[in-house]
Amino acid sequence: MVFYEPGKTSHGLPRDPYKACVVPRPIGWISTRNKDGVDNLAPYSQFNNLTFDPPYVMIAANVDLNENRKDTTVNAESAGEFCWNVATYDLREAVNASAEWFDRGVDEFQRANLEKEQAKLVNVAMVKASPIKFECKYYTTLRLPGNPPMGTVDVIVGRVIAIHIDDRVLTNGMIDIGKVVPIARCGYHQYTVVRPESVFEMVIPGNPKQLVGLEGNASVASTMKDGKHDVKPTGS
Ligand SMILES: Cc1cc2nc3c(=O)[nH]c(=O)nc-3n(C[C@H](O)[C@H](O)[C@H](O)COP(=O)(O)O)c2cc1C
Repeated sequence: MVFYEPGKTSHGLPRDPYKACVVPRPIGWISTRNKDGVDNLAPYSQFNNLTFDPPYVMIAANVDLNENRKDTTVNAESAGEFCWNVATYDLREAVNASAEWFDRGVDEFQRANLEKEQAKLVNVAMVKASPIKFECKYYTTLRLPGNPPMGTVDVIVGRVIAIHIDDRVLTNGMIDIGKVVPIARCGYHQYTVVRPESVFEMVIPGNPKQLVGLEGNASVASTMKDGKHDVKPTGS
C-alpha cells in the first residue's frame, strides 16, 4: 500500500503518481490571440467545466520559478477572451504539436498545420476541424501558490458566451460521442479516447424531476426558470 503526504513524505515510486490518479482529464485545447495579433494554441489537461447556467470553464496554467506565465494565460488576461476547441482522436497529433514551446511570435496553428476559423463574438481563431468549440470571456484568475520549479498555478476562469456544435456530430439532436471521439489525459504520457463501446447509461433512482440538470432537458429547464417547477436541477 502506498501512502504519502505530498510535499512531506516520499511516495517511493519511480515516477510521481499524482497525475495518474485523477483520470481521465478532459483537454482544454485553448486558442488565444496576443496583442500583436499572433494566434496561440495549447492543450491544458488541468481544465474543466465549472457550471452550466451560465456556463463557465477553468484552465490551470503552471508558472515557473522565474514567474514566466504561459502564453495562454497572458493572452486570455490581456485580451479578455479565449476559445476552447474539443480535442478529438483525429486531431491528436495536432493537439500534441501545439504543446511544444514556441516564442510568443510564433503562430501555433501554422506549426500544428491547422486551418483556422474566426470566432463570431470574440477576436480569437478557433480550430476549424474541431467539431465543438466555445467562445469565452475571461472572468478572473486565481493564483494557487506552489513549490518550485513549476508548482505555482494560475487558474483562469472564463464564461462561455457562444457555443459551436458541428451538425456532423449530432444524432437525433444530441451530441453523439461516437462521432466526436474526444481524447483525454491519463497519467505519464498516456491518453485515452471515448468511443461508443465504452459509454454506458445510468439514471439516478427516485424523483424524475431531479434528473433535469443531468439529462439537459431544455423544455423542463425553461419552466424551472419561470419558477413553475418545485425541484432544483441536480447539476452535472
Ligand atoms: C495533453 C497536455 C496537457 C497539458 N496540460 C497542461 C496544464 O494543465 N497546465 C499547464 O500549465 N500546461 C499543460 N501542458 C503543457 C502546455 O501545453 C505547454 O506548456 C504549452 O507550451 C503552453 O503553451 P502556451 O504558452 O502557448 O500557452 C499540457 C500539455 C499537454 C500535451
